[in-house]
Amino acid sequence: MSLQLKVLHPELAVEVGGVDLRQPLGGDTLAELQSTLARYPVLVFHGQKLSDDEHAAFTRSFGPIDAGLLLASKRKTRLTNTDVIDLANIDADGKVLEAGNARNVSLLANQLWHSDSSFKSPRAQYSVLCGVDLPGDGGDTEFADQRAAYDALPDAMKARIGSLVAEHWAFHSRNMLGGADFTPEGMAALPPVDWPIVDTIPESGRKTLFIGVHTRAIHGLPTAEARLLLMDLLEHATQRQFVYRHVWRNDDVVMWDNRCTLHRGRPYDLTKRRELRRCTTEYAAA
Ligand SMILES: [Fe+2]
Repeated sequence: MSLQLKVLHPELAVEVGGVDLRQPLGGDTLAELQSTLARYPVLVFHGQKLSDDEHAAFTRSFGPIDAGLLLASKRKTRLTNTDVIDLANIDADGKVLEAGNARNVSLLANQLWHSDSSFKSPRAQYSVLCGVDLPGDGGDTEFADQRAAYDALPDAMKARIGSLVAEHWAFHSRNMLGGADFTPEGMAALPPVDWPIVDTIPESGRKTLFIGVHTRAIHGLPTAEARLLLMDLLEHATQRQFVYRHVWRNDDVVMWDNRCTLHRGRPYDLTKRRELRRCTTEYAAA
């Protein structure tokens, strides 16, 4: 099979046709998708209505499944396939959550620039996000190319950050938004982890920044200096020229490489139902 590619953003995002994600991937198609991801770390597929089992099976083709924040939450999922993370803003009875609902904080934290599961070890490699039921306006998802952002840094900054290691913590973003519904035991299940600020993607050999809202400290730097540096880097890394903005249609599937992109949701009407589901792989080499 040969994929049909339409470039959406130079080097960052491409629309992919010529593949049915409901079917098991043949070895050639899998290799073609992997090599496409090495060049364009955001893939967009239209018209792919996946069941949860099909969603999980497609994702599992690329590696073992990452449990994300489920490690810290005892909340029961509505979904029978526990490999798939429910990102719907509705409760167990199907009603839209109140805007101030504590669970909404975790959903709203997705509007801050982040890399999925950067707060875990192993961290995430690929995420596969399915748009199931989306409001007609708002709620776009933006992606920022962290390889291009690294390349564009001044040499002095590259030298300054080249050996720095940042601490990522799952609850830093939630605390910024006023706190979410996690117990002390749940929070203890996800202690902070360390990752170098500059990484290299093995498939492409390209260097990349690895930052985002889960970073709260840099080893060897005072907290204030570290946070100012992280804010400066994030501002640099999310300039418009590095960003692709995805406008959702129902049955879109968007797949991305968390090792070299940041992403964030954009605001939407909190009174409207919005349903997406995500499945993510672990980065075996991390
Ligand atoms: Fe995310």
